[in-house]
Amino acid sequence: MTHRIPLAGVIGNPIAHSRSPRLFAHWLETLGLSGHYVPLHVEDADVEAVLRALPRMGFMGTNVTIPHKLSALRIADEVSDRARRIGAANTLTFKDGAIHADNTDGHGFIANLRQNAPDWSAADGPAVVLGAGGAARAVLDALAEAGAPEIRLANRTRARAEALAEIFPRATVVDWAEAAGAFDGAATAVNTTSLGMQGADPFDIDLSALPASALATDIVYTPLDTPMLIAARARGCRTVDGLGMLLHQAVPGFSRWFGATPEVTEATRAAVLA
Ligand code: ATR
Repeated sequence: MTHRIPLAGVIGNPIAHSRSPRLFAHWLETLGLSGHYVPLHVEDADVEAVLRALPRMGFMGTNVTIPHKLSALRIADEVSDRARRIGAANTLTFKDGAIHADNTDGHGFIANLRQNAPDWSAADGPAVVLGAGGAARAVLDALAEAGAPEIRLANRTRARAEALAEIFPRATVVDWAEAAGAFDGAATAVNTTSLGMQGADPFDIDLSALPASALATDIVYTPLDTPMLIAARARGCRTVDGLGMLLHQAVPGFSRWFGATPEVTEATRAAVLA
């Protein structure tokens, strides 16, 4: 077989605003590798046909974003344990005619905290997770794996939190109306809701019970410094913004597809924000 330039991409709809192409271009250039990473706008009805065709065009794999993370998992021939637990795939690798599905969001979440708050450990004490969407599932999985002794889960729609507490170990449900009380004695606080995101509803959860020793992080990264992080810092807490989760979740895919492991640095952040 003739040598082909390795390709990868991200499938989604919409996809025009994805920051992943900038991230991958930055890493390819930094590492001096040849390769291309492209945004692919794919309609729901076409996901399977596109995924089966991509390897034939030289694609090593793709990332998957909204709204295709569930169908990608369903279509895949092999599924990692964590993708199965999370119930969604964000990283597909094409190998020997098969589609391998993984979910690296939880890895990205933990790697971001470890890089930016090296003294933090999930085992430090109870964690509070706000929200019960797809991002919350990855965060719960990662916190449970990393040894959080207790995970207090609050979501506006209580039934969604209850469904997750059935799946993830050591998770208990706190009523949304009582979310403020859940921060009492917590070591980790995570916002996985869209509250505080540019253009979304304001973040209005009272953090006054959050101990100053706690670490707070937000998966929202527009703006980088979210209302939740600002409120936590006012309490004396250390905070880590959510951009690093996006960057770190991309590392496993990049290294599988392009054969070198990239680093997440200040230059990486700048490249993605440019
Ligand atoms: P994702 O997969 O990115 O997590 P999602 O599944 O739409 O996205 O989840 C968004 C989360 O933000 C949910 O937990 C949602 O709460 P509901 O399950 O009750 O919908 C939460 N959320 C969004 N807007 C909210 C608001 N105004 N108040 C409280 N929670 C909100």
